[in-house]
Amino acid sequence: MSVAEQTLSQQAIDLENKYGAHNYHPLPAVLSKGEGVYVWDVDGKKYYDFLSAYSAVNQGHCHPKIVGAMVEQAKTLTLTSRAFYNDMLGKYEKYASEYFGFDKLLPMNTGAEAVETALKICRRWAYEKKSISENDAQIVVCENNFHGRTTTIISFSNDPVARKNFGPYTQGFIKIAYDNLAQLEEALANNSNVAGFLVEPIQGEAGVYVPSEGYLKAAKALCEKYNVLFIADEVQTGIARTGKLLAVDHEEVKPDVLILGKALSGGVYPVSAVLANDPVMNVITPGSHGSTFGGNPIAAAVAMAALDVVKEENLAENAERLGQLFRSELNKYIENSDVCRLVRGKGLLNAIVINDSEESDTAWNICLRLRDHGLLAKPTHGNIIRFAPPLVMNEEELLDCVAIITKTLKEFE
Ligand SMILES: Cc1ncc(COP(=O)(O)O)c(C=O)c1O
Repeated sequence: MSVAEQTLSQQAIDLENKYGAHNYHPLPAVLSKGEGVYVWDVDGKKYYDFLSAYSAVNQGHCHPKIVGAMVEQAKTLTLTSRAFYNDMLGKYEKYASEYFGFDKLLPMNTGAEAVETALKICRRWAYEKKSISENDAQIVVCENNFHGRTTTIISFSNDPVARKNFGPYTQGFIKIAYDNLAQLEEALANNSNVAGFLVEPIQGEAGVYVPSEGYLKAAKALCEKYNVLFIADEVQTGIARTGKLLAVDHEEVKPDVLILGKALSGGVYPVSAVLANDPVMNVITPGSHGSTFGGNPIAAAVAMAALDVVKEENLAENAERLGQLFRSELNKYIENSDVCRLVRGKGLLNAIVINDSEESDTAWNICLRLRDHGLLAKPTHGNIIRFAPPLVMNEEELLDCVAIITKTLKEFE
């Protein structure tokens, strides 16, 4: 690496440090290009991307079909706001509603906005369809959830770093343990004011916690029994990441409200959405909710192309097959490892747990060495490293990545 190149990298870091708010702690790698499963830094070093922008780039970096759709639409019409109709939104709403099997879609931009939207829909439904007295609606959520960063969402987080000094917090949430049906039933049975159950089918940010088999199906059945909306936050798990189009598909569960984001655009543009059937979605009336950018023509064009790619390139099947291979290969290594305790996950959403305390910096140091060896990943919480490559990866590339990971772990044994 030349001095000039070193300077480029350091310059980019210094600029962010000086002029950007310090709301992230990035791994020191300054990226300037991406294609498929690879990214390159400003020094021209090539890496496997093993995070995919937190599962947004499922279709691979700069997918030509998605970028093409964006460029074409950007040259034609970018934004009308919802003050007027545009000729792309309806097409997209029809396409995506049919794609996921719902009557209607409400377009937003980011994951957190879509979660907020789902909460608002749920509360309205509580008052207008379930006859709960105004302001009494409760929504059940899970401990260690991650649904985004807005004031309401962090109000029901139990991550002290995400919450500290951001109060007062929004009321109306009941927290129960994840993957615990007894607690869910207790929360629903003893409280007629419960309107919804908001759940991640796999807790991604918390460290890729996969619930027990049958949990989601039984939770949905409980929601039906007590007339409570089952709200699936598939912002991270959706769009083929876990080996099915949606993670709830593993248990053939149909949510009442489905929340999507991230890979809905293949990571090309901020696009999120809430989907539901008419009896639920129709509680939203003109003026009750909206967004200047939500449903803009570029987002509509990008999302249709991104969803096309998922089917055309069989990304769910690929994620399922490569995910099994990834876990079985890593398990062979873990059998004799002192530093890595286990690998867990579904499809290509996986994590390894490092044999050290939550507070230790071992996982961070492993990620630094993975970077040196040409693979980018990041710890989620403390000693857990999430592995989520783009789903367009092939078997040879995956085995190459396993070799990098095991070689790196060996350095820490
Ligand atoms: C399950 C889940 N919900 C919501 C969000 C928030 O999405 P965004 O960062 O686009 O607001 C995330 C982001 O990681 C997520 O994993």
